[in-house]
Amino acid sequence: MSKPFIVVCDGMDKNIFESLCANENIEVHPNKKCTQEEIEGLLPKANGLIIRSATKPNKELIDKAPNLKYIIRAGEGTDNIDKAYCSEKGIKVSNTPGANNNSAAEHALALMMSVLRKTPWAHASMKEGQWNKAAFTGNELWKKKVGIMGFGRIGQLLCKRLQGFEVEVSFFDPGVTESPFSWAKKVNSLDELFSDSDIVSIHTPLIEATKGVVNKDLLSKMKPSSILVNAARGKIVNEADLYDALKNNTIRGAGFDVFETEPLKEKTQLHELDNLILTPHLGGSTEEAQFRVGQMAADQINEFFVNNNLVNEVTS
Ligand code: 3PG
Repeated sequence: MSKPFIVVCDGMDKNIFESLCANENIEVHPNKKCTQEEIEGLLPKANGLIIRSATKPNKELIDKAPNLKYIIRAGEGTDNIDKAYCSEKGIKVSNTPGANNNSAAEHALALMMSVLRKTPWAHASMKEGQWNKAAFTGNELWKKKVGIMGFGRIGQLLCKRLQGFEVEVSFFDPGVTESPFSWAKKVNSLDELFSDSDIVSIHTPLIEATKGVVNKDLLSKMKPSSILVNAARGKIVNEADLYDALKNNTIRGAGFDVFETEPLKEKTQLHELDNLILTPHLGGSTEEAQFRVGQMAADQINEFFVNNNLVNEVTS
């Protein structure tokens, strides 16, 4: 009987990939990261896919993979996978919950600190040969009010990391009935969170209820001195409304790691803004996080195909 054939679509920690390839119960395509063309060519034979956010198993892709049984999202968010269609086709989906969450929380913190202290702009000006201290007077994080939208694993980790900064943390999450931390206050509406905070950091998954929810109306509730950070999903924020808010300085600045359309290769109107920091979806991109997600993904592949055990299933 032929061995289950696994394709690693979006890149993986080198050592984990080597140990995955050494698993004699499965056959792994020898490329650590496949090009789009390679993935297309391998789909008819694939029984398992390991993906990150770049590969999007939608109806079109799934229809090209008649032998596909299992998709592992080596990471957290599964909004790039058409899970309803997978379920119709009997394809199981898993993620690696928690494995990259610390990196995501730290990246949100890095973005807020960067906007507060204007670090990227100061760096760019130094590279131009300037020494312009006066232009880059920033603000402290200490004692500020930080609002966390979405208080799941990543939101809560950010809350813990923020404790050392002695900030006032509040959060909005309809799924969390009581604050798990004495120093974090639960608020009852997004309006309250956005109007009260000096910094708002978004940490919800992209689901129907969160799509476009940060719009003109909510942004207009924010203080002119406030900062918005998004290291969750781009489509939670209406980008045209964000552009207007930043352009008209109705909010002070923003740090965004995620965008309505990714990858963001062409210049958009967001690139014009001098109060927005952009990073290319780096929340989970650390060596540590990639080691952990890769290890979990490799273990779960083995569980599924060798031990007939489905771990960390995601259905919706
Ligand atoms: C996630 O959902 O796990 C993060 O957004 C990281 O995504 P990535 O694995 O594509 O970097």
